[in-house]
This record gives sequence, structure tokens and C-alpha cells, in this order.
Amino acid sequence: MARLRPAASLVEGLLRRSMGRRLDLAPQTRAPRRRMNPFYATLKTSVFSTMSALAAEHGAINLGQGFPDGAGPEDVRARAAEAVLHGNNQYPPSPGLPELRQAVAAHYGRFQGLELDWKTQVIVTSGATEALAAATLALISPGDEAVILEPAYDSYGPQVLRAGGVPRFIRLEPPNWTITREALEAVTTPRTRIVMFNNPLNPAARVYTTQEMAVLADWCVRHGVVAVCDEVWEHIVFDGRRPVSMMSLPGMAGSTVKIGSAGKIFSLTGWKVGFICAAPELAAVIQKAHQFLTFATAPNLQAAVAYGLDKDDAYFEQMRSGFARSRDRLTAGLKSEGFAVLPSEGTYFLNVDLAASGLNLDDETFCLRAVKEAGVAAIPVSAFYAEDPVRTVVRLCFAKNDDTLDAAVERLGKARKLA
Ligand SMILES: Cc1ncc(COP(=O)(O)O)c(C=O)c1O
Repeated sequence: MARLRPAASLVEGLLRRSMGRRLDLAPQTRAPRRRMNPFYATLKTSVFSTMSALAAEHGAINLGQGFPDGAGPEDVRARAAEAVLHGNNQYPPSPGLPELRQAVAAHYGRFQGLELDWKTQVIVTSGATEALAAATLALISPGDEAVILEPAYDSYGPQVLRAGGVPRFIRLEPPNWTITREALEAVTTPRTRIVMFNNPLNPAARVYTTQEMAVLADWCVRHGVVAVCDEVWEHIVFDGRRPVSMMSLPGMAGSTVKIGSAGKIFSLTGWKVGFICAAPELAAVIQKAHQFLTFATAPNLQAAVAYGLDKDDAYFEQMRSGFARSRDRLTAGLKSEGFAVLPSEGTYFLNVDLAASGLNLDDETFCLRAVKEAGVAAIPVSAFYAEDPVRTVVRLCFAKNDDTLDAAVERLGKARKLA
């Protein structure tokens, strides 16, 4: 069940406190303190960077940050290399290469039944992260409210705050991480402008049901809210599931900003090629935000992604089944070591429920011990909450080769005994 929370008091408090700190004048004898933006000056380094650094320091297996072991499809990489050597390496058009925008529109027509006009409804960005920033900046005016379903990808809160918005959090809880109509209504005010909706949900590894999506769509339509839909994991769904976009739900074509990521679709996370699909009036304003964030994205990578999006269905099926096999291997191994594993319906991740595993310690403590004493990096799910976090769940990335997963299981078994 979702539990309700009031306003984003913690994040707002953090912002206020950090603004206040500007007034502490340094003693006259010291060099004058450089004035930096207090929001960024006090923002914590992301948990992914922190855990990856600890993994490197302790020579640990890194099941923390979500990137696959594999090199990515060779034909797509060959296209990129070819485009670097023989293609255009000068500024591409700001909204993206026409060939990629056409490919995005065709791809979502093929897989999600969407009808998109590539000229007015598709923008290419430097990863989904930039797409989220551009959408947030374009849709929020100071004082507007943004509903964030937590656990949430860690850029949402800071991006909303920097756009001048006020986050309103809804707390989702394990094991079901369910959205309810009551939770949505309870955070709604006349200033509610957007909801950040991540489906499949990282880190919970949930794929929302069509009933939950219908509840959210109905709420958006009734309150005139735009759904900023982070669908970067759309192709990584298991057990016969198929990617469904919020944009395809009744009434949502004009109220959805759909965000995708080639990094996830092709297991090439370093490429940072993302896409925004939205109704023309939304896309036109988001494009203005995009032009002064990055302006454009490497044309050679865009050309390769355009080629990749046209790959046959077998590529997508094989990718899914490969990740599902790794998920099952890690799940079985962890269960044999006595861990309670929550269902993983999509993404590169699965979660261990520490409390249900009989472990009486919080997720951060477990992760620190696991990386320092057992040699496995994982992510504490509490890091995905701005306040009142769930502290009993740990996220592990299974997009690794079998040997790595097996070694990690053995080490996590040791961490369990240390706890
Ligand atoms: C939910 C979610 N949104 C956005 C991103 C960032 O995507 P990109 O690498 O394309 O910026 C990630 C990456 O893990 C993610 O999990």
C-alpha cells in the first residue's frame, strides 16, 4: 500500500538551510568565501558514484550501478564507428537527425501502437537525464507542484527544485509498490502541474499494471496534469510482459511526455542518447529548453541508434530472455543463501528484503559491510527517497555474466553471516 506524505519538507528544508548558510560570513582573516550556488554546493554526490568508488577502492564486484557486462550489439557499434569515419561530425540539427527522429516514431508505432509525427513530436537528447531536465524546466514555473512517486530516480527531486517547483512525494512500499487513487488525490492541489512516472520502476523492478496506469491517466486528465513518463526500461520487461506507454492510454496523447533511452535499449549505457515524444505544443517548448542544455547530441551515435531501432523483433526478444536468465540465476543463488528476493518484473535489477531475510540491520549498514567486508557493491534503496525512506531493501544489478553473479552470491552469503 502507498503511504501518504506531506510536502517535500526535507528537500525544501535542505534548500532553505543551504540558502541560510550563505549568510555565515567567513572571518576577516581568511580569504573571502567564493559564492557558489547553495543548492549544488550542498547537494550530495549520487549514491551510484559513491558505491562505484567504494567498489573500486575495495576491489569489490560491482552490482551497484546499473550497467551490463556485455559490449552491446556489434552491428550497432559498427554503425557508430562507420559514422565517425565517414559520416557528418559537425553540429546536427538541435532536435536530432531526421533519420533518428523518423526511426523513433516508427519504433514506437511498431512496439507501442503510437502515432507520432517525427517532425513535431520527437526530440533527441543527450540521454534520458537531459530529457528529464528539459521537460522539467519547460513544464514547471516557480511554485508549481510536481508529484514524485518514491522510490524515484535520484535526478527528479533536484531537477524539480532547480526549475523552481515544489515536489509532493507519494511513498510506495515493498513488496507491492502500488499506486492508489487515494494517494494521488491526497497530494493534489490547484498548483499540481506534472507527475514524474517511471515505468518499469527503478529500483523496485516493478511494471505497473494496466489498472494502475488507468488510475494515473484518469487522475492526470481530471486535474490537467502532464505525466512526464520515464520509460527508459520499456524493453527490459520479463515473463511475457510487453512495453506499454502511458501515451497510449485514453486521453493521454496530449498529456504525456514520453522519455526513452537508447543506452538501455542497446545495453550501451555510456552512449547517453535519449528521446522525448510529446504532443507538438509540449514538444515545441521542451525543444527550447533542450537547445540551451546541450543543443544537440553526437551525430554518429544518433545514426547508429537510428539503425538499431529498426532491428527485427528477435533482437528485442533475445535481449529480454538473456536478462531474464541472469535475473533467475541471481535469484536462485541468493535464495539458496537464505535471502528473501522480491519479484523483478523489469529493469536490470532485483531487490533483497533484508527484514524478510531475517537480517536486523538497515540497508545502508548492510551495503557498507557488503562492499568493505565481503567485496560486493549494492545500492541501499533508502537512497531513492527524499524523506521517510524504506530502509529494509537492497538493490542488486543482475546484468552481469554468470561467473560474476555466482561469485557475488558466494560473497553475499558471507556478508549475511557477518551481519
Ligand atoms: C529510471 C531512470 N531514468 C533515467 C535514467 C538515465 O538514463 P540515461 O543514461 O539515458 O540518461 C536511468 C538510468 O539508469 C534510470 O534508471
